[in-house]
Amino acid sequence: MKKIIINGGNTLSGTISINGAKNSAVALLPASVLCDESSNIYNVPNISDRDVLIEILEKLNCNVIKDEDAIKIDSSKVINTRIPMELSKKMRASYYFMGSLLSRFKHVEIYFPGGCNIGKRPIDIHIKGFEALGAKVQIKGDLYTIDAEELNGANMTLDFASVGATINIMLAAVKAKGRTIIRNAAREAEIVNVATYLNNMGAKISGAGTSVIRIDGVEYLHKGMVEVIPDRIEAGTYIILGAMIGDNLKIENIIPEHIDALLSKLTDMKIKYILEENSVTISKCNDIRPTNLKTAVFPGFVTDMGQPMMVLLTQANGVSMFEETIYENRMGHVKYLNKLGANIKNGNTNAVIIGPSKFYGTEVEATDLRGGAAMVLAGLIAEGTTTITSIEHILRGYDNIIEKLRNVGADIKLIDE
Ligand code: EPU
Repeated sequence: MKKIIINGGNTLSGTISINGAKNSAVALLPASVLCDESSNIYNVPNISDRDVLIEILEKLNCNVIKDEDAIKIDSSKVINTRIPMELSKKMRASYYFMGSLLSRFKHVEIYFPGGCNIGKRPIDIHIKGFEALGAKVQIKGDLYTIDAEELNGANMTLDFASVGATINIMLAAVKAKGRTIIRNAAREAEIVNVATYLNNMGAKISGAGTSVIRIDGVEYLHKGMVEVIPDRIEAGTYIILGAMIGDNLKIENIIPEHIDALLSKLTDMKIKYILEENSVTISKCNDIRPTNLKTAVFPGFVTDMGQPMMVLLTQANGVSMFEETIYENRMGHVKYLNKLGANIKNGNTNAVIIGPSKFYGTEVEATDLRGGAAMVLAGLIAEGTTTITSIEHILRGYDNIIEKLRNVGADIKLIDE
């Protein structure tokens, strides 16, 4: 069993460089099967979700060549359109193969996706979008069989500005006949990244990054490339760490506009940082002001930062209120924060955090990906030794986390016993 062991309390200084965004990469890799030739994706993070997606691409008969963080996918000879259950269920983003395979082959068989257990996470909005384009969706248990004789552009307004549904419907519409308009589309940067890639291969998508996306269908996608944008959640996780135990900790390779909501919250909490063109430098703040925080769709405060942010709120001088508005079940980490010494009273989607609390190392579990990141932050600020189990969740989304933290002075290691 893999575990992370942390001896907390070290001050961190130096530079952490941010890798490509998990939530972009996990959409770009499935999007690659829309290409009728081959394409290159650069700056792909080295995370376990990447490896699962490559396994799926190979099952579909893509030729995938990895060269450090660059991946070349030859998708000209795709023959399979069925994704086995065990691979569908290994992660959430397997569902992007619904849109891409449907668009190119008018047929896909796939199982309900896996991913972090942070809520019910239905995919009804994706399905409604495919149906609006003319697809027939049959659901037998967890198996989704989606067929279309022809896909035709359609006008639709999403019930909720879902990241996954926006990308999936965009993928499905790329090769549909005529124009698709998606209203109330999600505006997250990952959507722009996917649209940039598809347009580079000849797709006609405009408006990505706004709430109205227009897609004019094309028949063929030629060779193309894209670079994965920096991971704003990885960046935010380390920035928060800097505010608690940094000494001029520099987080570089960021796009400041993507972390605006976090930075303005830090300002609100009287935490100082130096913002440059592609970096943030931050040191321990000794007098953190409590705040109220509510997660929201972009450009609001991203839900994925909520759990790491709660660790910071435990160090504030006073009472903070936290509300999660996207998922019904994203509080699994709270019981472990309390075990470490926090004073948090929580319901399913909200919490009252009474700070400041001193943390003492103990055994905790990574309940999900970002809950796991919260455990790493908590262990690093705690006195003594913290052991984190179920760390597969963390490795799904944080590239080289152990090495990056060791390089800036943390006493952290991964053991496999
Ligand atoms: N929703 C529906 N029906 C749908 C789709 C979504 O009800 O058909 C609801 C969900 O249940 C949830 C909300 O809408 O309450 C948001 O779902 P969304 O589709 O936006 O999220 P997602 O595609 O499932 C992606 C990221 C998440 C991130 C969210 C929001 C991937 C693989 N996952 O999830 O990332 O929290 O967008 O930004 O890109 C993470 O990285 O830790 C993570 C969970």
